[in-house]
Amino acid sequence: MRLYSAFSVALLALGSLAAVSQNPAAPKVSQKPAQKSAAAQMVAATPPMGWNSWNFFAGRVTDQDIRNAADQLVATGMKDAGYVYVNIDDTWEGDRDANGVLHTNSKFPDMKALADYVHSKGLRLGIYSGPGPQTCAHFAGSLDHEAQDAQLYASWGVDYLKYDLCSFRQAVMTAQAPDDKAAQMRLMIAAYDKMNKSLKATGRPIVYSFCQYGWDAVWEWGPSVGANAWRTTGDIQANWQSIYSILNEQAGLAKYAGPGHWNDPDMLEVGNGKLTPAENRTHFSMWAMLAAPLLAGNDLPNMTPEVKAILTNRDVIAIDQDRLGSEATRAYSEGELDVWTRHLSGGATAIAVINAGSDRYSTHPFHLSLGKLGLHGPLKGKNLWTGEEVTLTDNMPLEIPSHDILLVRIAASK
Ligand code: GLA
Repeated sequence: MRLYSAFSVALLALGSLAAVSQNPAAPKVSQKPAQKSAAAQMVAATPPMGWNSWNFFAGRVTDQDIRNAADQLVATGMKDAGYVYVNIDDTWEGDRDANGVLHTNSKFPDMKALADYVHSKGLRLGIYSGPGPQTCAHFAGSLDHEAQDAQLYASWGVDYLKYDLCSFRQAVMTAQAPDDKAAQMRLMIAAYDKMNKSLKATGRPIVYSFCQYGWDAVWEWGPSVGANAWRTTGDIQANWQSIYSILNEQAGLAKYAGPGHWNDPDMLEVGNGKLTPAENRTHFSMWAMLAAPLLAGNDLPNMTPEVKAILTNRDVIAIDQDRLGSEATRAYSEGELDVWTRHLSGGATAIAVINAGSDRYSTHPFHLSLGKLGLHGPLKGKNLWTGEEVTLTDNMPLEIPSHDILLVRIAASK
């Protein structure tokens, strides 16, 4: 079989993905996460999966949108595929009262009732704040109210906090140490640790997600101050250039990720903007290879069957959620072709080949070097986007369409 021809045909037959998505299940969700035993309370043993409001709704998100998202996670089968966090991003915050207690704004009339609703669906609720006086969208931040806010989140039943640096830069770092970058970074680290300790003091297991755009090699110090995930980049956008440049920035970071602490190349844009089916596939495949949090950011009530098939591909999700927690590394690049590999539990291997270019044709297919991956052919595997069995041989020709990916799982490498 010529691998590339089977692959190209399959690209035209996205319907076949439905069959693929019947395979191994993603982790089961407890109905009552707060009541699990202490041993089971380690959060983010595998990368968190769910949905976040920002990439589609930005500042427009309301209580009703969050309820709709929760309903849709269940109705679409995404919950069963592992998407359990429903995360409210910026713009839910109102004013503080005379006691410093933060209230929600009119878009979120009753956060406790919303949390109860989300939990009633067997899902978990995420929320957003930051260490500065204001969030990025200029709503109230947690500066000087960290313990109070953490207790408030816990009282509502919040299960996940995204903590975004934003105004802390000017209001604290620049203000207190204008000419000393190292001192600024120490202030930043202390601020993240302050919220870490405040969250721990609540006794509630809460995923703690850092959003400070990868500053000061956060992967080196984040876990020591409680990070379950840390953004490694600036904000993602729903276009190929953004996704591919973020992907390239991840090379070399694999050694910092593992169970309980993950590199976060930002939330998914699958289904957003003008991303093509190939670009959506590559984006999703590579975030899974990177053991990234899989936080969908699309319009769930209006999701197309093609986007749903991508987001619920169980074989690809199984790569992301692999218990070993070993992130992919970039094995080699040749022109606009990149080859990434990931070690999986049980001695399995995932291989991803991306064509980032737009002008390579069947006259000159890419030849995959198994030797450069430390492998020897022939290797039987599964093409995770067609469901077909494939055999990889050394130097085999691969014709991969522009911005598309070949993602293969090899059961046990030699
Ligand atoms: C920053 C973050 C985004 C989002 C917005 C909200 O830009 O990086 O992910 O949370 O703030 O204002």
